[in-house]
Amino acid sequence: MGNAAMSGRGKHRPVLLLLLVLAASSVLVAKAANCSAELEAAGAAGTGVTTEWIDAATPDTACTAQLCTDDFDTCNVASPPLSTLQLVFSDEFETEGQQLNVAAGNKRWTAEQLHYGATQDIEVYLPEQVTTEGGAAVITIDQVADGGSATALGQLAGGAVANVSSAYKSGFVDSWNKFCFTGGYLESRLQLPGNETVSGFWPALWLMGNLARGGYAETTRGFWPYSYSSCGGADVGAEFGAGGPALQNISACSDPPGFNRTKFGLEPGVGRGAPEIDLLEVMVGSSKRLKPGQAARPAKPGEQVYPHNLVTMQTAPLLPNGTTWTATDAAGKVVPGPGQYLPKDQLPNGMVTDLAWWKGPYTNSSDTPQTRPGSLYQDAVGAYASVNASFFTSFHTFGLHWVPREHVRWYIDGVLVYEVSQEALREQTNSTGYTVHERLIPVEPMAIIFNLAMSESFGYVDLEKLAFPSQYKVDYVRVYQNASAVNLGCSPPDFPTAQYLACNRDKYLLTEEDQSLVQGACMGAASCIQEAEVNFEGGDIPDGNGSALLPQQLATVKQCCQACQALPACGAYVYSTVQQMCYFKAPSGWTKVAAPDPGFGALAGVVYASGQTWPRGTNSSSGDSPAAAPQPASSSVGEAWQPPTNRSPPTASPRATAGSPSAPAPPPVPSSSGASVPGIQASAAALVALAVAMLLW
Ligand SMILES: *[C@@H]1O[C@H](CO)[C@@H](O)[C@H](O)[C@H]1NC(C)=O
Ligand SMILES: *[C@@H]1O[C@H](CO)[C@@H](O)[C@H](O)[C@H]1NC(C)=O
Ligand SMILES: *[C@@H]1O[C@H](CO)[C@@H](O)[C@H](O)[C@H]1NC(C)=O
Ligand SMILES: *[C@@H]1O[C@H](CO)[C@@H](O)[C@H](O)[C@H]1NC(C)=O
Ligand SMILES: *[C@@H]1O[C@H](CO)[C@@H](O)[C@H](O)[C@H]1NC(C)=O
Ligand SMILES: *[C@@H]1O[C@H](CO)[C@@H](O)[C@H](O)[C@H]1NC(C)=O
Ligand SMILES: *[C@@H]1O[C@H](CO)[C@@H](O)[C@H](O)[C@H]1NC(C)=O
Ligand SMILES: *[C@@H]1O[C@H](CO)[C@@H](O)[C@H](O)[C@H]1NC(C)=O
Ligand SMILES: *[C@@H]1O[C@H](CO)[C@@H](O)[C@H](O)[C@H]1NC(C)=O
Ligand SMILES: *[C@@H]1O[C@H](CO)[C@@H](O)[C@H](O)[C@H]1NC(C)=O
Ligand SMILES: *[C@@H]1O[C@H](CO)[C@@H](O)[C@H](O)[C@H]1NC(C)=O
Ligand SMILES: *[C@@H]1O[C@H](CO)[C@@H](O)[C@H](O)[C@H]1NC(C)=O
Repeated sequence: MGNAAMSGRGKHRPVLLLLLVLAASSVLVAKAANCSAELEAAGAAGTGVTTEWIDAATPDTACTAQLCTDDFDTCNVASPPLSTLQLVFSDEFETEGQQLNVAAGNKRWTAEQLHYGATQDIEVYLPEQVTTEGGAAVITIDQVADGGSATALGQLAGGAVANVSSAYKSGFVDSWNKFCFTGGYLESRLQLPGNETVSGFWPALWLMGNLARGGYAETTRGFWPYSYSSCGGADVGAEFGAGGPALQNISACSDPPGFNRTKFGLEPGVGRGAPEIDLLEVMVGSSKRLKPGQAARPAKPGEQVYPHNLVTMQTAPLLPNGTTWTATDAAGKVVPGPGQYLPKDQLPNGMVTDLAWWKGPYTNSSDTPQTRPGSLYQDAVGAYASVNASFFTSFHTFGLHWVPREHVRWYIDGVLVYEVSQEALREQTNSTGYTVHERLIPVEPMAIIFNLAMSESFGYVDLEKLAFPSQYKVDYVRVYQNASAVNLGCSPPDFPTAQYLACNRDKYLLTEEDQSLVQGACMGAASCIQEAEVNFEGGDIPDGNGSALLPQQLATVKQCCQACQALPACGAYVYSTVQQMCYFKAPSGWTKVAAPDPGFGALAGVVYASGQTWPRGTNSSSGDSPAAAPQPASSSVGEAWQPPTNRSPPTASPRATAGSPSAPAPPPVPSSSGASVPGIQASAAALVALAVAMLLW
């Protein structure tokens, strides 16, 4: 990047001098570089660049990724054309002995205490089964000592909570509502647990939309794995009744009576969901079928490759009966349909790939080729890629290139193994005229999950032969994006999730401790009381550096109210209609003064939280509450959210999956106006008659 600038400057100089300048510059740049600085430099002209997610321990060599961003056939060659993507997130796990439980407050990850019921897991997940060791995040799966058992809560579809005991314990780590990204290249280097001969460990690394929390079945219901923003077609599978798939909860259709999505800041007409993309799901295969010494080999119809990694994108609604995305070749073999790609040529290292299929709702047999892969709850478009013994004894690199509405591609050790593109998810109509419109290559903010399970729902679990304890090691997790189009955050402006989570805390958070995972108030039932030509003096919110939180440039006072509501420490705000600047104030500690300055255009407001008749963050309307503003009528606050009518919950959701995340309210973006002290100049003028407005946003 420095080179490009230099070559511009040096273009009229003698060539030799230019080369010297370039060389010197490169050396200097290399020495001074770190990945945060590189991202800042690369993204200088762009928007939304933040370096906060980059682990300072990331080696300089990992600051960029060279990736083929062309079409599959162009990329599926020995030396494809490469583009540069910039590191935007990393965890190198270099700090030893880290705990990732909720209380540890890790910025990126949470190690869950959870029973994953959707896939009838044998183990329970405990935070203490996850630590950092030897420069990797390590998940240890083990048998509980002395024939004892471990317990964890598991949420069932419908919201009931089970306290589950198991003789086996393992770990589940997610970045739900902490770190999410939309599009980019995800890369992880990891070592698998167990070995290539014994079946039963199910290590995974995957992505799920933030609107669902992985393993919390009431949060996945109606969200997972919808990737659909069309009205109509979403009731495929309805013929299976209560045991069938849940309808899309937030669809592109109008809201059902009694439900209004705008309360959650969600756009009418936009379908929402929690899609899933799996980078790694390894299964050795049924040891009943795996003969001693049997090496990886191509699959026959109905057979899997052993051992193998299953790479899939999961989507809903299902295609209607009678349609498929696969094709059949002259020999009757199931091959990729339009928009799906497997490498045509021999892969290196004896690796083989094949299209994935398994039994689905319309074809039950897993022993014959299926024309319509998937299950009753999901269409899983994907492929198998073989892995060999070395994946269990050393680290290998897995990559996922996700471009919303375009494609998802998977790499193993740099080898492109499969692509599903938007074309594969095109609209289809069956012979009775039933249409399902295009499902989308995910557009939702996705969180990262890595976990180690055991479940017969994924493959044969040979509890007698499996060795305990065993370890699944993740050396690093890195995310790269186009520096001029960085899209990070669990609640980006075009696909917000923060309010949905804040207004449905009971669904997403089962324990008191978990409350910290969702920040901000539910604005849907909250309000701001506001006056004109008023200032609040004092009561600034400390920014942790000994000064006050910077104001934020916002176009409307409504956004200012909402920004304050989303910021836990905020209880009041002052907004300049002239500067379009929002100043944040604590719930108390400030004094109301008149500010009749037309050059500022002050509006000052106090935030009322859900169900309260006094300002948020204070205990009552009496005493020294700063709110000189009138109390809202109790009938107009705390309006209860009415869910739409229910469809019966499914009894299980399959996994090859589940998942989800949301993020703490982003801190206000410091404005470039140079304002360093929040609050506005107090006017000494006499109090003007105030227009008082009670605003329900
Ligand atoms: C890396 O670059 C960032 C951004 O320029 C800077 O804040 C940080 O101090 C640098 N870190 C090191 C270790 O040089
Ligand atoms: C990054 O985005 C810009 C602007 O959309 C585009 O011109 C460029 O080709 C992109 N680069 C890559 C590597 O995708
Ligand atoms: C779950 O059950 C275990 C043992 O039966 C018990 O110790 C634990 O307190 C229970 N947890 C909850 C949250 O009820
Ligand atoms: C939902 O609420 C918004 C904002 O209050 C309102 O404009 C809209 O008309 C409501 N929609 C329905 C279908 O009631
Ligand atoms: C077309 O799809 C609908 C929805 O899945 C299904 O009810 C109908 O039976 C299908 N028609 C055929 C011919 O399979
Ligand atoms: C799906 O379509 C096939 C062939 O048209 C038909 O035999 C089968 O009964 C249908 N299944 C369902 C569940 O509609
Ligand atoms: C598939 O299996 C289920 C349950 O075993 C059964 O109810 C359903 O009728 C079967 N469908 C077909 C198409 O055979
Ligand atoms: C196993 O796979 C790795 C990476 O794909 C390769 O480097 C190695 O040579 C393979 N080992 C064998 C025995 O095929
Ligand atoms: C694989 O692990 C099992 C224990 O689960 C052990 O008995 C077996 O010898 C191992 N095989 C190889 C090839 O390492
Ligand atoms: C401290 O100040 C710096 C520079 O303004 C800012 O980036 C950072 O977020 C502040 N820290 C906190 C905790 O607010
Ligand atoms: C509200 O009251 C509780 C219990 O009396 C107290 O712990 C808490 O600090 C009070 N909060 C505020 C903001 O005054
Ligand atoms: C959406 O979710 C709510 C709350 O879980 C539920 O009551 C409602 O039935 C769902 N709506 C649809 C259309 O599935």
